[in-house]
Amino acid sequence: MKNKFILDPCCSVKAMRKNMNHPNVIFGDIREEEDGFMGYGRKEGIHPDIIMDFRKMPFPDKSFKLVVFEPPHLSTLGKTSLFRKKFGCLEPETWQDDLKRGFKECWRVLDDYGVLEFKWSNSEIPFKKALELIEHEPLFYNTTNFKATSKTKWFCFMKIPTKSEVKPGQATLKLNERLPII
Ligand SMILES: C[S@@+](CC[C@H](N)C(=O)[O-])C[C@H]1O[C@@H](n2cnc3c(N)ncnc32)[C@H](O)[C@@H]1O
Repeated sequence: MKNKFILDPCCSVKAMRKNMNHPNVIFGDIREEEDGFMGYGRKEGIHPDIIMDFRKMPFPDKSFKLVVFEPPHLSTLGKTSLFRKKFGCLEPETWQDDLKRGFKECWRVLDDYGVLEFKWSNSEIPFKKALELIEHEPLFYNTTNFKATSKTKWFCFMKIPTKSEVKPGQATLKLNERLPII
């Protein structure tokens, strides 16, 4: 665990990864799938280091410096859809609670001054609706691809300790400081 300071709790086929076997990352997902998907000209499957549920993570508090959270963001995919097989699907009845719990867990396992990267596409569910489920404000997000009909954004959060936890000389975020959001 000592050199595993990055967590990808729902890694799927690791499509966004440059190094799928990065030694400092723990890859998790709720399932394992044999190689059977085609992507980028190669066969790929879902091979996490650990089968886990992002709603109840098997790690102590403050275990990671970076958490990269890309949960499913579609809820209307057909049962046999390839996209569903590859990237999962939100449960129409429970997705808000599932995401809320996922965010809470990401935050809990994040170390002080650690970074949470949250990736979301608004093709079905607006960014605002997803962001309402996290109790923290992003520091920034990408402002490109505004012309596309559906957009994917990366939201960057940092776990800055609140005043009660901060030591002299350390930076704090004022509790009532709210950043404007889209
Ligand atoms: C959008 S994909 C992630 C894509 C990934 N970032 C990539 O680069 O390929 C979402 C993944 O979340 C997984 N997932 C869904 N619910 C989960 C849960 N409760 N805990 C862990 N993983 C979950 C799905 O199995 C799916 O593989």
